[in-house]
Amino acid sequence: MDPGEREYTIIIRNLWKSYRDGRGSVIHALKGIDFHAAKGEMIVIHGPSGSGKTTLLKIIAGLEKPERGVVVVGGYDLGYLDDDQLAMIRNTVVGYIPQDYGLVDELSVAENIELPLLIAGIPKSERHRRVKEIASYIGLTDLMSRPVKSLSGGQKQRVAIARALVNTPKIILADEPTANLDWDNSAKIMELFKHVKEDFETTVVIVSHDPRVTDYADRLLTMSDGKLKEY
Ligand SMILES: Nc1ncnc2c1ncn2[C@@H]1O[C@H](COP(=O)(O)OP(=O)(O)O)[C@@H](O)[C@H]1O
Ligand SMILES: [Mg+2]
Repeated sequence: MDPGEREYTIIIRNLWKSYRDGRGSVIHALKGIDFHAAKGEMIVIHGPSGSGKTTLLKIIAGLEKPERGVVVVGGYDLGYLDDDQLAMIRNTVVGYIPQDYGLVDELSVAENIELPLLIAGIPKSERHRRVKEIASYIGLTDLMSRPVKSLSGGQKQRVAIARALVNTPKIILADEPTANLDWDNSAKIMELFKHVKEDFETTVVIVSHDPRVTDYADRLLTMSDGKLKEY
């Protein structure tokens, strides 16, 4: 494809982020990140624990604020948004899947998938239609009334993906999606991300220290000590 024609869903320029630890020392988690991702592209960011992967994903998801630099997500410059606008981005432009899945254990599969639609104020009949549609796409129809706490790790990951997709975001962000899965289930989850990318032209960004996921990447990047390099 002509690079001039590409639609970038994420553009990051010179992004810095630091934290203070319990004793007041400064930890530089991100040290000048440049990154872009195109529509329909699957990107894997690989790197050791503590290298800054989760921090980067949370900033793209609007869950953490950038300290310095430019972050444009789905055409919105996050530096100019207030908290309500950031909440809108989190709920409609981006589907973020945290490492621990972020599901409500006591609720059923269907209720978990419905949550983002409730927050977005979608009417009931439309909510139910969309939950059914996405559950059928992901292959969760038989589990709809099961409480999430009764599911296996692979099933929970699929519910988390369904919930992230239900508002048809432009971007899916997944933090260590295979961390708790055996190889068979990891391969199934990575195949599912590939289908999502192809069927909906979603940008998929996966961060992982699992070397098995790198085969699925259109583009592989390495994160090391707060810096990002094209592989
Ligand atoms: N909320 C926080 N407060 C203090 N330090 C943090 C916080 N979140 C992350 N860090 C530190 O920032 C660095 C990068 O962390 P993280 O983004 O979680 O890396 P990764 O996901 O690659 O393991 C680590 O040194 C980590 O301890
Ligand atoms: Mg992490």
